Amino acid sequence: MADSPKFHDRMLSLGLARVSEAAALASARLIGRGDEKAADQAAVDAMRNQLNQLDIRGVVVIGEGERDEAPMLYIGEEVGNGEGPEVDIALDPLEGTTLTAKDMPNALAVIAMGPRGSMLHAPDVYMEKLAIGPGFRRGVVTLDMAPAERVSALASAKGCSTADITVCVLERPRHEDMIAELRTTGCAIRLITDGDVAGVIHCAEPSTGIDMYMGSGGAPEGVLAAAALKCMGGQIFGKLLFRSGDEEKRAKSAGIKNLHRVYTRDDMVTGDVIFAATGVTDGSILPGIKREVGYLTAETILMRSKTGSVRRMTYRNPVDAL
Ligand code: FBP
Repeated sequence: MADSPKFHDRMLSLGLARVSEAAALASARLIGRGDEKAADQAAVDAMRNQLNQLDIRGVVVIGEGERDEAPMLYIGEEVGNGEGPEVDIALDPLEGTTLTAKDMPNALAVIAMGPRGSMLHAPDVYMEKLAIGPGFRRGVVTLDMAPAERVSALASAKGCSTADITVCVLERPRHEDMIAELRTTGCAIRLITDGDVAGVIHCAEPSTGIDMYMGSGGAPEGVLAAAALKCMGGQIFGKLLFRSGDEEKRAKSAGIKNLHRVYTRDDMVTGDVIFAATGVTDGSILPGIKREVGYLTAETILMRSKTGSVRRMTYRNPVDAL
């Protein structure tokens, strides 16, 4: 077989924006309708359809689930028209299905692409995550530190008081002890009900006011968040968490050798990637899909890690054209 063409991130990135746009637009009519499954399905169908029009030989490495549980965009599914470079794809057509069904902030359609072998094949288990934005010495905060210690370390690195630090955390019973410990530092805590890809991206976007993200959430979302921070700058650490022997088995069959490893951003995303996210519901990083009679408007953030470039694109489209 001829050598695979080079991964032209610059050329492919605009196509990638169309993919996340399509997913977000497709879920628009299901925002606030109380049906998570239908919203997810609409986004999955549209994302897959657009992806298959790209000149790539793609494989889904982070997707909707294992082949037996997800009929579309499952891990290992080949996507693209089979004509271009060999690429790996991490995607979440609807990150925040409940946020969408309830019309709550920060639901996104998300996708990242890189050359074959550039992203960790994370199994569908939980991951302990810790993230901060750009501009800090490597390892200024670590997963080994207690939550309160992380706040103090970041405050001294920023030259501010712990009361000036805002930490974003998923509101879950499993985080109650961590939240109680964080409270002892006097920091502010932004509790989110879902959507930790957006939660992590917040750290790299100064307008959100969030300095640090911590807590456990999906491991696939951890890799997507690492891809975003690879483009925007910032650090993320992740450690897989297993609740059963079956989950450990799943990790081993995904190729994970050391189940206790702490992954850095560059361990999760080893090559240059492109990343696109389109807002579904209004949020602090992106506005959601705007509906007017006859039109839908979507906003997408499109980034390349090679250049650190961040482009925002607004797309207004007649509804009939979808
Ligand atoms: P869905 O879009 O699949 O509903 O996931 C949303 C999400 O909040 C992720 O952002 C997060 O990583 C994960 O769920 C957290 O899992 P759990 O709800 O089990 O705490």
